[in-house]
Amino acid sequence: MASPSRYPETYAAWQRDPEAFWGDAAQAIDWVTPPSRVFSPGEGPYGRWFVGAEVNACHNAVDRHVAAGRGEQAAILYDSPVTGTKRRITYAELLDEVASLAAVLQDLGVGRGDRVVLYMPMVPEALFAMLACARIGAVHSVVFGGFAARELAARIEDAAPKVVLAASCGIEPARVVAYKPLLDEACRLSSHKPDSCLILQRPQAVAEMVEARDRDWAEAVAQARTAGRAAPCVPVAATDPLYVLYTSGTTGKPKGVVRDTGGYLVALAWSMPNLYGVAPGETYWCASDVGWVVGHSYIVYGPLLHGCTTVLYEGKPVGTPDAGAFWRVIAETGAVALFTAPTALRAVKKEDPEARLMQGHDLSRFRTLFLAGERADPDTVAWAERALGVPVVDHWWQTETGWPIAANPVGLGALPVKHGSPTVPMPGWDVQVLDESGKPVPADTMGTIAIRLPLPPGALPTLWRQDERFRESYLATYPGYYNTSDAGFLDRDGYVYVMGRTDDIINVAGHRLSTGGMEEVLASHPAVAECAVIGIKDALKGEAPCGFVVLKAGVAKAPDVIERELVALVRERIGPVAAFRLALTVGRLPKTRSGKILRGTMKKIADGDAWTMPPTIEDPAVLDEIGASLRERGLG
Ligand code: COA
Ligand code: AMP
Repeated sequence: MASPSRYPETYAAWQRDPEAFWGDAAQAIDWVTPPSRVFSPGEGPYGRWFVGAEVNACHNAVDRHVAAGRGEQAAILYDSPVTGTKRRITYAELLDEVASLAAVLQDLGVGRGDRVVLYMPMVPEALFAMLACARIGAVHSVVFGGFAARELAARIEDAAPKVVLAASCGIEPARVVAYKPLLDEACRLSSHKPDSCLILQRPQAVAEMVEARDRDWAEAVAQARTAGRAAPCVPVAATDPLYVLYTSGTTGKPKGVVRDTGGYLVALAWSMPNLYGVAPGETYWCASDVGWVVGHSYIVYGPLLHGCTTVLYEGKPVGTPDAGAFWRVIAETGAVALFTAPTALRAVKKEDPEARLMQGHDLSRFRTLFLAGERADPDTVAWAERALGVPVVDHWWQTETGWPIAANPVGLGALPVKHGSPTVPMPGWDVQVLDESGKPVPADTMGTIAIRLPLPPGALPTLWRQDERFRESYLATYPGYYNTSDAGFLDRDGYVYVMGRTDDIINVAGHRLSTGGMEEVLASHPAVAECAVIGIKDALKGEAPCGFVVLKAGVAKAPDVIERELVALVRERIGPVAAFRLALTVGRLPKTRSGKILRGTMKKIADGDAWTMPPTIEDPAVLDEIGASLRERGLG
């Protein structure tokens, strides 16, 4: 029989003395100046962790492992079915790559505190770049490759980077995505102009260079190497930002989530053995993208901090070439854990329901499958459990939190699984479910999930240069709490259930998107009088955006022409990742008598769920019209 989980006493130890708990956890990190204070409640919007300590993230992720004898161990196993490439990069090689690139960045004038934007696909150079920034104390801001030029421009505008690092292209199964024209357009749109762009030329689409601004990545690194230039690690304050990662807010303007260095390293280092149950030297695979928080924490920093081998997979769960890709990579890399999104599994399950493509792959070392990014539907979890015969762990977190709020900590010993629940709060997270007035509700009662302050190490201390927006967005609604904007409940055993967002954020294929941002784009079309975007149920992607538009009087173009233009406009402004494929022209939008659009009711109708007529509705007939338009498209 399995020994009982150490979770209860671990969580209780944190509750008894949070500072002692995190002070102990901090010992997993090499500090330049060790922390003398663990938490300073008077600093920042709700307090800061490890004020006064100094550290370097790159040293902890790379140098110290080489010094400790892991030089020949693989740090990165790059597997790219889209280019037919595999590469094994040892810790010693990683150190050389990172130190050389860091020297190039210094030559380009980048120093401690300067921002560097990265627009990179899943290639090893993306990791070299993040670590090179960390090495010299620069703040990286990675932009996901599926975003369009305008989104990239908004991030360049806000982060004001000295340098942009980009690849010439990313590779999607059906097409090569030329990044360089998008970067050039973003630089044109942004009022802030980077001094230089370092361009990684990939043979699939060689980019044209802009004189004086652009430099060739490979040449610059080769020159630095020939000149024997290697940048040492620069100590930074534990409270200095390691990165800024932009995420969807409730408007088109993304939020710059700040990740401070010391607390993040401590939280990730705690999570690797205790939550994920992996040991140094083992292979850990997170099949996300470096453009998302999951990629930052568990492709790059978490596994490398812990001396693991990380897998960098440039491919998809299906179609590169088939639904057996994940099992092949697990077998070939010897990964003991895989972390992916439920959507990826749904895609695999759809193509290979009997998991026949698993046969012939040696999965004997594989111990745990972790899922996050969206609600893990019980059917998919049960399918994966049956197919793999290992624990499937759903865990819940957000870009803002940096690491999981709730999980089943297999490293401490797994707790009984309840399908539909990401299990229990991790140490550091005092999870409460509140009613509208901010009072905790009884067990099994739905409400807004909030975290009692302070947030633990690793969570955002603020938004980039926007303390006030941080307070307004997260702390103002429920004083003393961080509002997760997720709705859900706690059951009698303290298990957390996360059912969906309370704001206008939707989750499409594990990608976080703002319907408000899409509405801004639709409203900018000259023919559109008003609009509403909602997320509707999608069997594969969880949710898919659907836009309802009312056209201005006297518009000459046919509605179907405008609908196609709107689909193209969202793709052009936000990017293909928005997966906006459905715009419906309607005569009117359903509203309350005070003019509020009834998006919630529209969603219920579109999803085919039970709904009741809102008592405040201005004209009930409008909902019939909405239902009829949806039925015309085979929805609702
Ligand atoms: N660069 C450029 N374009 C990208 C991109 C990138 N990095 N990532 C996605 N896109 C494009 C896709 O090519 C697609 O374009 P299309 O409209 O021309 O077909 C569009 O964005 C939508 O992508 P997606 O929603 O991912 O759908 P898909 O049909 O291409 O793939 C899945 C479906 C299930 C295979 C894919 O969504 C998947 O792997 N999901 C898992 C997500 C995940 O791991 N999330 C991380 C959070 S933990
Ligand atoms: P992101 O910031 O992209 O990581 O998205 C965060 C949001 O994704 C959360 O606020 C949730 O709405 C959703 N989410 C992430 N993980 C889970 C999960 N395990 N269960 C339910 N929802 C999740």
